[in-house]
Amino acid sequence: MDPHQIREKMICRILLLIILNSCLCAATFVVNVTQSSYQAEENHNITLEWTFTTRPDRPWGDLYILCSLLTPRKEFDLYEVHEGVEVSESQNEKFSGRVQSDKHVLKDGRIRLHVSRLRTEDSGQYYCGVETDDGHGSDICQLNVSEAKNRPEPPNSGSPTSRPENPAF
Ligand SMILES: *[C@@H]1O[C@H](CO)[C@@H](O)[C@H](O)[C@H]1NC(C)=O
Ligand SMILES: *[C@@H]1O[C@H](CO)[C@@H](O)[C@H](O)[C@H]1NC(C)=O
Ligand SMILES: *[C@@H]1O[C@H](CO)[C@@H](O)[C@H](O)[C@H]1NC(C)=O
Repeated sequence: MDPHQIREKMICRILLLIILNSCLCAATFVVNVTQSSYQAEENHNITLEWTFTTRPDRPWGDLYILCSLLTPRKEFDLYEVHEGVEVSESQNEKFSGRVQSDKHVLKDGRIRLHVSRLRTEDSGQYYCGVETDDGHGSDICQLNVSEAKNRPEPPNSGSPTSRPENPAF
């Protein structure tokens, strides 16, 4: 073989290696929802959970997480981790004070988000994307928040006894 052919062969091998590597990487790092759909009632709380691949031998280096509510019209960020540290700058005001995470379970590859005082407009698809040295992935679950069966009385609308919950029909 002349040097030119050898060089071409080498380049082919290197390209093949790169392709194989990236395929392996994508296959070994996964993000899963633990439940694909949730049903909840207005004013209640819920815990949304995702799992992602961890290595038993060493913790991940850089960890990036972004979780958002996807609605047909807009995307609302509710949770973000930058280089392993939770950051709140990008959190949409819609969720401010209503999202709590279990920080200590992140190292076990779990994202647990407690969303409190649910509103019907919190309904939609919840996406979490995770990126580490080992790769990246994402998964989506559906949350439906139904109207409260017993809506709290608006203020100054009379005492509950003057307006029965279930009027006679
Ligand atoms: C929801 O969570 C809040 C705190 O985040 C708590 O005060 C409240 O009691 C919880 N409500 C229910 C129905 O679990
Ligand atoms: C994700 O789900 C797949 C299929 O159910 C399972 O084999 C895998 O162990 C899960 N991985 C994680 C990190 O939860
Ligand atoms: C949530 O709502 C969607 C669309 O309205 C519906 O297709 C889906 O079945 C509902 N899921 C649950 C768990 O109620």
